[in-house]
Amino acid sequence: MSDLLSKSPVIPVVAIDNPAHAVALCEALQRGGINAIEVTLRTEKAIEAITEIKKHCPKMILGVGTVLTPDDVLRSEDTGSDFLVSPGLSPKLQAALQATELLVLPGTATPSEALSAYEAGFDKVKLFPAGAVGGANLIKSVYAPMPNISFMPTGGVRVSNMNDYLSLPNVYAVGGTWIASQALINAQDWDAIEKNAKDAMDMAAT
Ligand code: 3PG
Repeated sequence: MSDLLSKSPVIPVVAIDNPAHAVALCEALQRGGINAIEVTLRTEKAIEAITEIKKHCPKMILGVGTVLTPDDVLRSEDTGSDFLVSPGLSPKLQAALQATELLVLPGTATPSEALSAYEAGFDKVKLFPAGAVGGANLIKSVYAPMPNISFMPTGGVRVSNMNDYLSLPNVYAVGGTWIASQALINAQDWDAIEKNAKDAMDMAAT
């Protein structure tokens, strides 16, 4: 389970308005070399889109993002997804996330929040919003005191700065919307998404 994301250093964070776009989106990402996706619960049809991916893209490591409530945890589990991502932790959400068997990447923004998440059983967390709270410097600074916690920065990550993060020993992946933005998905610009995915994977390999 903890190795789930080991082959996916770049995780596109997507908002899908039309479930009919979900499979073409995943195929474009996979042509570009990306095999993991975080579909956020930010759109009305998100669960339908996730269900489509689960059904038709069996090789895609499927995450649900913007998980905010215990109910979000339950409906995400029902889709058969592989991992859950939240932008932060509240007491009720934490309890629901502790109860799931899925890999959970809870959002943290400070060392204290990272420690609380670790204490709650989560050693892989998301740093959000990474660019706004200190970026790669923050993650680098917390490695010495808390080497057992590793981070997936999202928020402000781009192809131009992703390796500042991926070069750190306590970063297991980076996430972001730049690879497959809502506008590109709605425009069904699969070529652009494939290219963004390929550029990101090429950068990650350098
Ligand atoms: C997230 O949901 O993780 C962030 O909103 C992604 O931020 P970005 O749009 O800067 O990539």
